[in-house]
Amino acid sequence: MNARRKFLKTSTLSVIALGGAVAFAKDLQDSQTHTMQSATFKSQSLPYRILGKDLKVSALGLGCMGMSHGHGPARDEKEMIKLLHKAIELGVTYFDTAEVYGPYTNEILLGKALKPYRDKVIIGTKFGLYYPFSKQHQDSSKKAILRAVDGSLKRLQSDYVDLYTQHRVDPDTPIEEVADTMSELIKMGKIRYYGLSEPNYKTIQRAHKIHPVTSVQNHYSMMFREVEENKILQTCEKLDIGFSAYSPLERGFLGGLMNKNTTFHKTLDMRAGFPRFQKDALRENQKILNYVKEIAKSKKVDGKSATSAQIALAWLLAQKPFIMPIPETTKLTHLKENLGALQISFSQDELEAIDKALKSMPVFGERYPPNSDAARSVGL
Ligand SMILES: NC(=O)c1ccc[n+]([C@@H]2O[C@H](COP(=O)([O-])OP(=O)(O)OC[C@H]3O[C@@H](n4cnc5c(N)ncnc54)[C@H](OP(=O)(O)O)[C@@H]3O)[C@@H](O)[C@H]2O)c1
Repeated sequence: MNARRKFLKTSTLSVIALGGAVAFAKDLQDSQTHTMQSATFKSQSLPYRILGKDLKVSALGLGCMGMSHGHGPARDEKEMIKLLHKAIELGVTYFDTAEVYGPYTNEILLGKALKPYRDKVIIGTKFGLYYPFSKQHQDSSKKAILRAVDGSLKRLQSDYVDLYTQHRVDPDTPIEEVADTMSELIKMGKIRYYGLSEPNYKTIQRAHKIHPVTSVQNHYSMMFREVEENKILQTCEKLDIGFSAYSPLERGFLGGLMNKNTTFHKTLDMRAGFPRFQKDALRENQKILNYVKEIAKSKKVDGKSATSAQIALAWLLAQKPFIMPIPETTKLTHLKENLGALQISFSQDELEAIDKALKSMPVFGERYPPNSDAARSVGL
C-alpha cells in the first residue's frame, strides 16, 4: 500500500469509517486557533483530502470564478473579500481561480483577500487558456507559461502557486514539454504542484511519466459522470493523482433554485449559451432535481433535513477518497450550506440505489454547445 492510501486508512481523526460509509462530523466540531501573519482568529478544522502524494486540502474547496467572471456581473469586491475570509474561518483551505477568470480580476481579488493568510491556504490557479477576439485558444508553450506564471504570482501577491493547472490541453505543445516546464517551475520554487484540466487519460499518463501530476480537474457531478467512463478516475486512482471536481452542483442546477423560467445574463453568464440551461432542458431535468431532493429528505444536517446541494456534494465525496469538489458560491448562506455536506454519509446500499436511479434518468441538454470551441477542447 503506498504512503497516501496508508495515510487515509489510518487517519481516524479526520475520516471515520462507518461500515462502508464515511462520517466527517467530528472534525467539523473541532476548532483551532491559528496565528495568522496579520491577525489571530479562530478557524474550524474541516475534514481533509490528500491530492497526489501529499497536497493536503479541505475536503471541499471553494470555486471563486463567479465572484468575478462567467456567472453574471462581477460581485462587490469588499463583499467577496469578506466571504473569502469567512471561508477560511470555516475551515476551507483550497481556493480555485484561473488567469482567464476576468481575465485577471479573479486572481487579483484572491491576492488581496488571501495575502494575510498565505501560509494557511492552498491556491490553485490555471494557465494556457485565452480568448483573443472571443475565440478560444490554448497556448502552453514554454514561453507562454513562463510569462503566465509571473503574471499570476504578481496578481496573487505571492512568491508561489500551490497548484498550477493547465486549463486545457494545448494540441500544439506536446504534454511532455508542458510537464517539463512544470518540473522547472517547481525547481525554481514558483509552483509547488501541477495539474491538468479536462485531459484525455493518455495525456495524464504521458505527463505523469515526466513529472508526477498532483491533480486532475474535470467536470463531475450527479448529472455529468463522464469521468467514470473515460478512464479519468481510474487513471487517477492507479497513478495516485488527486481529482478536483468542478461544477459539482451542475453549475448551480443541483442547488435546487432553478426552474424553466430561470434566465441568465446574456453576455456575462456563460450558462446562457449552454444547452443544459435552456428552457426545455431546465424543465426536463427537474425530474433529476426532484429525485435528489427526495434523497435529501432522508438525511440530516445540523438536525434538519439536508438540501439537494448537500446531497450532490456528499455524493461526490463518497465516490472516491481522493476527490475534492470545488463548489462555487458568492453567498455566505450557500457556503455554510455546502459545508454541511461534510456531515452526510451514505451506506454502500444507498450509493448503489442512487447510482441505479441516476443512470435511469436521462440528462437533457449537452454541457457545451456541440462543435463549439469549448466542446472541442476537452478530452485532448
Ligand atoms: N477547470 C475548468 O475548466 C473549470 C470549469 C468551470 C469551473 N471551474 C471551477 O470550478 C468552480 C465551480 O464550478 P461552477 O461554478 O461551474 O459550478 P458549481 O459550483 O456547480 O455551481 C456554481 C453555482 O451554484 C450556485 N450555488 C452554490 N451553492 C449553492 C447552494 N447551496 N444552493 C443553490 N445554489 C448554489 C452558485 O450561485 P451563488 O453564487 O448564488 O451561490 C453558482 O451560480 C468554479 O468557480 C471554478 O473555480 C473550473
